[in-house]
Amino acid sequence: MIPKAELHCHIEGAVSPTFAREMASRHNVDLEPVLDGDRYRRQNFIGFLASYDIVANLLRERADFERLAYEHYSALAGQNALYAEIFASPAHAEAVGLSPQDYLEGLADGIERAGAEHGIEGRIIVTGVRHLGPDAVSEAAKIGVECGLDSVTGFGMAGNEMVGRPGDYAEAFDIARDGGLRLTCHAGEWVGPDGIEETLDLLKVERLGHGVRAAESDDLMRRIAEENIVLEVCPASNISLGVYESLDAHPLRKLIAAGCRITLNSDDPPHFQTSLENEYRIGRQSFGLSDNELRASTRTAIEAAFVDGDTRARLL
Ligand code: ADE
Ligand code: ZN
Repeated sequence: MIPKAELHCHIEGAVSPTFAREMASRHNVDLEPVLDGDRYRRQNFIGFLASYDIVANLLRERADFERLAYEHYSALAGQNALYAEIFASPAHAEAVGLSPQDYLEGLADGIERAGAEHGIEGRIIVTGVRHLGPDAVSEAAKIGVECGLDSVTGFGMAGNEMVGRPGDYAEAFDIARDGGLRLTCHAGEWVGPDGIEETLDLLKVERLGHGVRAAESDDLMRRIAEENIVLEVCPASNISLGVYESLDAHPLRKLIAAGCRITLNSDDPPHFQTSLENEYRIGRQSFGLSDNELRASTRTAIEAAFVDGDTRARLL
């Protein structure tokens, strides 16, 4: 099995249908709008964000997040993943009355337990939710900077990219950067080249979540290649949510041909009936990536990982 690494997965988006059902019966929540039998329903982006929130709402204790991270990392280790980052949004925990610190410590403990058992390495990217507005995103950045956890090494922003302009969130990214966190941001999933350029200019991130719509501009692809910006590409997510109609219409090959550095990621795996392993399979079967190219995308992910130099050298 090819060694893998993942940079882009939302931890509440990784709750399996089985885990969601168990928690829903504990808290008496109806999952009919979210699950169809043992599968997540296919939704458009706004419907998906609503489902995400319903599921996130089921996890309420530090121990729930420890278990979630442990199960997620154990499953990844079984796919021969050496390294994985997760996006964690303290706003979700706060919505159910859990302190951000307990939330992050629970996740960190789960990563550590899976690491001790399976050897997989992990880090947490504290993530602001864009549609909650600039103040909430700045608050998330402060939580990331102040939590004092070794496994929190990055800051990012997810949520509805059609809300606001990237520059509205510059303060949050300044707080995170000044506090020593590395930066990524969702851009170029729902908004085209303009939104990506503004994200690079004003938020000064080193990676882009998705970033695939850069393929609409040769100039922007050239810039991304020249500035060594790494793209966190999530093919199954893009098709499931309708960013592209089919894998044939997906620009992954075009981005690679333009010299952009790409990685393969699962985003919210059970929602899109995918896994990191499946993303690599899509890479091989639908994009014609060779084993060497798949290994190169793992290498790119490790090179762009939010880890210190010693850890990176050990993983490479
Ligand atoms: N949150 C979870 N998945 C997301 C995605 N694909 N885009 C934006 N926000 C998200
Ligand atoms: Zn995402």
